[in-house]
Amino acid sequence: MTVEALRSLPKAELHLHIEGTLEPELAFELAQRNGVTLPFASVEDLRLRYDFDDLQSFLDLYYACMAVLRTADDFRDLALAYLERAHADGVRHAELFFDPQVHAGNGVSVDAVMDGLLEGLRIAGERFGMTGGLILCFLRDLPAASAMETLESVAGRAGDLLGVGLDSAEVGHPPVLFADVFARAAELGLRLVAHAGEEGPAAYVREALDTLHVERIDHGIRAAEDDALVAELARRRVPLTVCPLSNVRLKAVPDLAAHPLRRLFDAGVVVTLNSDDPAYFGGYVAANFAAVAGEGFTVDELATMARNSIVASFAPDGRKAELL
Ligand code: HPA
Ligand code: ZN
Repeated sequence: MTVEALRSLPKAELHLHIEGTLEPELAFELAQRNGVTLPFASVEDLRLRYDFDDLQSFLDLYYACMAVLRTADDFRDLALAYLERAHADGVRHAELFFDPQVHAGNGVSVDAVMDGLLEGLRIAGERFGMTGGLILCFLRDLPAASAMETLESVAGRAGDLLGVGLDSAEVGHPPVLFADVFARAAELGLRLVAHAGEEGPAAYVREALDTLHVERIDHGIRAAEDDALVAELARRRVPLTVCPLSNVRLKAVPDLAAHPLRRLFDAGVVVTLNSDDPAYFGGYVAANFAAVAGEGFTVDELATMARNSIVASFAPDGRKAELL
């Protein structure tokens, strides 16, 4: 199957950190616009650092680059640049993760971040007919009290969010620490997702389901190490938002051939393919589809994963019906 054919499959992107779409060229442009000095000599110098040992080595660079994002206009431009690329890859609906606690640390209000991203989504709706929304992610390596404070700061505009998620350094920061925060988010009418089983153990996937009551698991690949859990994910039809190129680049798997996607798919788990932080991991969503096609997935199987993404999305039922 050609990349063109893979692009043309209608899909939803469900695991995408908007800050992870910051290409080096835009990072330098925004640094200049905002009078921020990046600790890299040039675009080329920055790109040379895209060689990661693990999740933390990536996060260090990713958080450093986020310092260039200062105004609502910056977030609008970032979102639009991503949505234009995603549209070209057949993405019809995009749910954008963002990390307000990092931006707050840079002196940027959550309102500025949300206003800019929502404006980008609105313009992409007009230009490309795309739909989508925002998922506010809490940093699990900060205290739960900070997450709760962040959540309360947006309680008055919960209607501007689709849901909440949980990201950043996983190991040693189990889901259960955030049970009260997720319960409060549910009370505000928000949908719930969490990263689990990327570097952390299968037990974190189970814990995210049992204590946070999430509807989808982001990554979830280490669930494959627990047969009973795999069977339960399949039976309960809990979607996994898998990011194959990310998993290879962050060495969560040795290579694509060793990726548990085949095992999860064959066990009947609702898997979707996503790009995570595409500016850093070597490709947007069509590149992830192409990489998986190279591992022996058939056209029908890839089309199933594209359909899964629409079913697993938080788009209204009418929109899903349009896209399926
Ligand atoms: N895992 C955890 N946190 C993240 C990631 C990821 O893949 N990308 C951006 N923040
Ligand atoms: Zn992620």
